[in-house]
Amino acid sequence: MKHLLGVEDLTRADIEELLDLADSFLEVTQRDIAKVPALRGRTVATMFFEDSTRTKLSFETAAKRLSADTLSFSVSTSSVKKGESLKDTAQTVEAMGADAIVVRHSSSGAPHRVAGWVNASVVNAGDGWHGHPTQALLDAFTLRRHRGPSLDGLRVLIAGDVKHSRVARSDVHVLTTLGAQVTVCGPPTLLPGATEGWPVTITHDLDDALCDTDVVYLLRIQRERQDAALFPTLREYTARWGLTDERAARLKPDVLVMHPGPMNRGVEISSAVADSPRSLILEQVSNGVAVRMGVLFKLLAGDAGAGGGSRAAGAGTATGAAGTRDVTGQGASR
Ligand code: CP
Repeated sequence: MKHLLGVEDLTRADIEELLDLADSFLEVTQRDIAKVPALRGRTVATMFFEDSTRTKLSFETAAKRLSADTLSFSVSTSSVKKGESLKDTAQTVEAMGADAIVVRHSSSGAPHRVAGWVNASVVNAGDGWHGHPTQALLDAFTLRRHRGPSLDGLRVLIAGDVKHSRVARSDVHVLTTLGAQVTVCGPPTLLPGATEGWPVTITHDLDDALCDTDVVYLLRIQRERQDAALFPTLREYTARWGLTDERAARLKPDVLVMHPGPMNRGVEISSAVADSPRSLILEQVSNGVAVRMGVLFKLLAGDAGAGGGSRAAGAGTATGAAGTRDVTGQGASR
């Protein structure tokens, strides 16, 4: 595995391997000293052309917990402002020694383009409407911890602005590949034009869909990606498709609530629901670090794990023979 550009090509076995790896790293993140030498000597660069709180900090934290060096790039303070191209920017970052480049961009396909211009591993941290692979992995990871180990038959309702959501596209693939039954719900104007081939049930009636689900996954209204008025008012949106206090009160006690963040509190989700015991929203964020540790480890330690790669020398116990490697620094593989 050289890059993680999308989830479309990941099989169930691939996904489960990454989630198992994340399980090991979750234990690391819970230690007093949450650090292992797995990627010592490696450099991870975050190249974000679009705003982010969770994903950028999460990748940087993951890299540091694996003892990698980090390079942080934000477009607003870079030479992109002087007209430097994506290709020149990526190759410049690689020339500083980046072994992995984590790319977020508002254009679908940008990480794929970068992967064609550099030798470093490239990770898609969200590209346009296309995909957000590590978000989907951390969502599956979080659900597996609550409803696992198998997600077979788990009913997941994804509600809101599916049309503009890269999270929804990646989640649909990952969750259905793991056996979950996914329903998507929203106003017709916020569902994709072409859903043929999607292994999902489609509905516009949130109240009906809420009666028959184990998980409600709310999506943010993405006003920055909308070029037309797709619903009359935010108040009307909330009345028909928001998880309000009244709707949440009708849910079965064990129904879980998720959201990728950032939230529009009071629009797609009420503030009380977001902060309620059934909400996994902050746990998703915490789990994201372990999942991204797993992804970076898989991309950057894999060659050394197979016995090659002088650059990984010194990574210690984390780069033993593939299959027996100790990713946690405790001498046992999980
Ligand atoms: N979920 C997510 O991608 O959040 P950020 O935009 O803050 O990274």
